[in-house]
Amino acid sequence: MPSSATHSVITPAIMYWGTPVVLITTENDDGTANVAPISSAWWLGHRCVLGLAAASQTTINLLRTKQCVLNLPSDDMGSYINAIAKTTGSPVIPPVKQALGYEHCKDKFARSGLTPHPSDLVRPPRIAECPVQMEAELAGTTELMQDVPDRKGFILAIEVKVIRTHVQDDLRLPGHSNRIDPDRWRPMIMSFQELYGLAPKKTVSTLASIDEEKYRPLTVSNVGASAAEKGKSGSEEA
Ligand SMILES: Cc1cc2nc3c(=O)[nH]c(=O)nc-3n(C[C@H](O)[C@H](O)[C@H](O)COP(=O)(O)O)c2cc1C
Repeated sequence: MPSSATHSVITPAIMYWGTPVVLITTENDDGTANVAPISSAWWLGHRCVLGLAAASQTTINLLRTKQCVLNLPSDDMGSYINAIAKTTGSPVIPPVKQALGYEHCKDKFARSGLTPHPSDLVRPPRIAECPVQMEAELAGTTELMQDVPDRKGFILAIEVKVIRTHVQDDLRLPGHSNRIDPDRWRPMIMSFQELYGLAPKKTVSTLASIDEEKYRPLTVSNVGASAAEKGKSGSEEA
């Protein structure tokens, strides 16, 4: 964009500038599985921070069971996401969602046609159709908008710890044990409620000259094994 482009002041109601869609699976209190699309998610090391409405069934399940799977859909999976958009696993639909036209859906696997697949280390299932599936455990919770008394706690920033990552083989970078080929990974991106894919690489990245393995120390901890890791080998954080 030229530096002479003009700018205006606006107050957008949402600031969804473009982030990957995540299909989170959690376990309901009757042992069945719930699925929810979200897009407020980012990763550093093997930690992920999720932005979740406190009243969502996913949030209730995650805080109770301390487990979830972060399943990443590819950009051709829009029909699955649309099938369960505007639904909640909550039997009582929160007033905010009623106003947005949400309906209750107990079995979102059946509604969407997605296929549950057993996880290795956690109870919620992976989603077979998703090329990336990260089994994760709860690590911490922070209430957003603590400075606004009547909004405090409506949205939570939830930190989870990825303890096992499964990827579709055709996404792996040939010649490397632990790398993704970003030219092959086509994530679904949500921007202002619309669904997109990524455009091809625009420029050669200076940052990409850094060997990915140099970031690995961020994923290692000497604090000890998590609950699910105890007695099971091969989980990600040491
Ligand atoms: C593409 C997409 C992205 C969404 N992103 C988020 C999000 O980042 N955080 C959130 O709390 N809800 C998000 N939602 C809305 C949730 O899916 C919605 O709250 C849903 O009712 C949660 O299901 P549950 O109540 O069964 O957990 C998103 C929905 C869609 C379709």
